[in-house]
Amino acid sequence: MLATLDAQTQAFRDDVLAGLAAAIPAIPARWLYDRAGSELFDAITKLPSYYPTRTETALLTSIMPEVAALIPTGTAVVEFGAGSATKTPILLDAIHPAAYVPVDISGDYLEDSAAQLSAGFPGLPVIPVTADFTRPFAFPALVADLPKLGFFPGSTIGNFVPRSATDLLRHFRELLGTGALLLIGMDRVKPVERLIAAYDDPDGVTARFNLNLIERINRELDGSIPPDAFRHEARWNDILSRIEMHLVATRDVAFSVAGQPFALHQGQSIHSENSHKYGRRGGRVLLLAGGWTPLAEWTDPAGDFAVILAEAQPNRSAP
Ligand code: AVJ
Repeated sequence: MLATLDAQTQAFRDDVLAGLAAAIPAIPARWLYDRAGSELFDAITKLPSYYPTRTETALLTSIMPEVAALIPTGTAVVEFGAGSATKTPILLDAIHPAAYVPVDISGDYLEDSAAQLSAGFPGLPVIPVTADFTRPFAFPALVADLPKLGFFPGSTIGNFVPRSATDLLRHFRELLGTGALLLIGMDRVKPVERLIAAYDDPDGVTARFNLNLIERINRELDGSIPPDAFRHEARWNDILSRIEMHLVATRDVAFSVAGQPFALHQGQSIHSENSHKYGRRGGRVLLLAGGWTPLAEWTDPAGDFAVILAEAQPNRSAP
């Protein structure tokens, strides 16, 4: 049985079993994004209360002439996560890169989005790399010696706790090399009501997105979690500056996953996602801690979302 699981499902099982057995039950947010989860996230990005996607898209469009002026010609764009059909073309249109390298763990989704982009940019070498971008991987020979621009939009950095976000930024620096640039999106701190509305929409799409994790566990890991024993909750954790998604048990509940028994009391939760929000200066400190020197920062007029361009400068002695 176990031997027949593919590597991805094994990793899922290991994370779920360890996460459910922990003192504070938690499952890494990346497992929210199976096909159904990715489709539900896509629906979230179109909700009136979910401001980040449309704000970042409009911001990228308006700043692109300024960004393009700071990018050397002949640069290869490396996008961490498969490029969305809406944001990536804004960048590619403006900077005319020498190559585009989308990196994503999901090969299927990657091939689809790469083919779509390729069709829209005839003559641009599009070289998808199927890899977990949090781990080392090799660049295609064609781009190995080109100057590089990392692209990490969507405030995906916010899904990592600051310690892991710092590790990830340092890893990007290793990967892209000294002198590389990074264009990164970060969601800003704002009034709690707006944050909660963005992560607990009145149509219940975010609730379905969160609860889909239970269905995925039941389907892929032979789980017996009663979905009706859990409800979606979005919480603002002020001291840690983040929105947390939880699956809260509405009653005492017992179930099994991959043959292992688990029990939760009413009110206990499975923590399923963090979405960190950064202040005006905090985001730049995070980048500096990760080895990236901010060169420029832009926000929408309301200050809801920030896009930062940073450089992997050579290490210098400092006072
Ligand atoms: C995938 C990081 C952009 O944290 O805002 C949206 C995921 N979760 N609603 C975010 C998400 C619930 C989203 N990102």
